[in-house]
Parts: sequence; C-alpha cells; structure tokens
Amino acid sequence: MILEAKKISKSFRNGEKTLSVFQNISIEIDSGNLITIMGPSGAGKSTLLNILGTLDKPDSGTLMLDGKSIDSLSNNELAQLRNVVLGFVFQFHHLLPEFTAYENVLIPNQIAGNDGDHHKANELLDYIGLIDRKDHFPSQLSGGERLRVAVVRALMNEPKLVLADEPTGNLDLGNANRLVDLFKKINADFNQAFVITTHNPEVASIGKTKYYLENGSLSLTDKF
Ligand SMILES: Nc1ncnc2c1ncn2[C@@H]1O[C@H](COP(=O)(O)OP(=O)(O)OP(=O)(O)O)[C@@H](O)[C@H]1O
Ligand SMILES: [Mg+2]
Repeated sequence: MILEAKKISKSFRNGEKTLSVFQNISIEIDSGNLITIMGPSGAGKSTLLNILGTLDKPDSGTLMLDGKSIDSLSNNELAQLRNVVLGFVFQFHHLLPEFTAYENVLIPNQIAGNDGDHHKANELLDYIGLIDRKDHFPSQLSGGERLRVAVVRALMNEPKLVLADEPTGNLDLGNANRLVDLFKKINADFNQAFVITTHNPEVASIGKTKYYLENGSLSLTDKF
C-alpha cells in the first residue's frame, strides 16, 4: 500500500465560524490503482487531495505514506519522501515562468539532488507529443501544452502515486480526452497509481475505484 488515510477530518476556522469540510474519511491507495473522486464544487476534493499529498494536515486521523506514519517524520524527511513517492498535477499547474518546458520538467530531479534524467525527460516529452515544444517558455505554450508539461514534471521521479486535482478542468474536449488516455496508459504501462478529482462524469468513469465526495463523507460509487 502506498498511502493509507484513517478517519481523517478537516475543518477551517474563519473568525468565529468553523466550517467542517469532511469527517472520518478513510481511504487506502494501493499501487497500480486508478482512483477517481467526483463531487460538487466546495465538497472538499482539493482539501482532501492536499491532505493525502501531505501538503496540509488533517485535524484528526492518521496518514501512512509508503509505510511510514507522517507524524513520525520531520518536515525535511516528509518533504524528501513526498518528492520521491508523490507526483502532483495541480489545476493551475505552477510552471516556473522563467524556465523552459524542458527545464521545468527537470526540477523534481534537481530537488532530489541530481542533475536530472535527461533521457527520461526527452522520452516523456516525446511520449506526450511535446518534444518540439521543449524549449518554449510557459508563456509560449497553449494551456493544454502547459498542463502536459506539468504532467511530465509530475512523472519525472517515477512517483508511486500521482495526485491530480481537476486536471481536465481547463481543457477542451480533445485535450481532456488525450490527457485521460495518457493517465490510463501510464497507469497500465508503469503500474503507477493515480487519484484524480473531477467534476466530469466521463473522467470519473475511468476509475478502477470510484468515489463520490459529498456532505462531508466519501463513498464508493458505481454511478459513473
Ligand atoms: N483555506 C481555507 N480557509 C477557509 N475555508 C476554506 C479554505 N480552503 C477551502 N475552504 C472551504 O472548504 C470547502 C472545500 O473546498 P475545496 O477547495 O476542497 O472544494 P472542492 O471540492 O475542491 O471544490 P471545487 O470543485 O470548486 O474545486 C469550501 O467550502 C471552501 O470554501
Ligand atoms: Mg477543487
């Protein structure tokens, strides 16, 4: 098992008010699984993904990442583990504007302390049809191209688990379908696990395990 969350709850405090986002959610993520989480806007999908990605902390509950309780790790140890085990695709993909597509995808390798796997960067960029755009800066790429660069960046360290928050949210149908096909192919070819949040029932339908998040709880669904 790559990640196990047990009975996690999260609320946000705004002045006097407390907003409870979800309560006692448990989820197990095994290697090679492809999980989709669908739910209405504001249901807590991004909040849940941030907590699963150890970027935010739950108020209660436990999280095991790659067999280690995250509470037992220092911030440094956690950052290192996160960089090796997890890949992130954010909705607003945070490419660094002053670096080219190629340089952006090498960043996770360089954070891990090496020069970067140039062979892999080229191979992955080729795989998703961006090899002739690799020297473009983010401002010189279309939205769909930028997103695909962010996907390559998320895959560079061969993470056991990729967390993708509404990855097709800003894409046209053609690019959305291509991205979904890419996720399925990587999942099948390399056995890397995915958790994908989405508003889109078609995207949700690709899940091997499908969840619906609503009213603070996460339930398995076969509706999509
Ligand atoms: N930092 C924060 N402080 C206070 N409230 C927050 C914070 N982050 C999120 N919320 C609230 O928590 C709830 C869940 O937000 P979240 O972003 O997880 O929803 P979501 O399911 O991802 O929605 P969407 O589909 O619109 O992206 C929302 O009602 C939001 O207003
Ligand atoms: Mg969200």
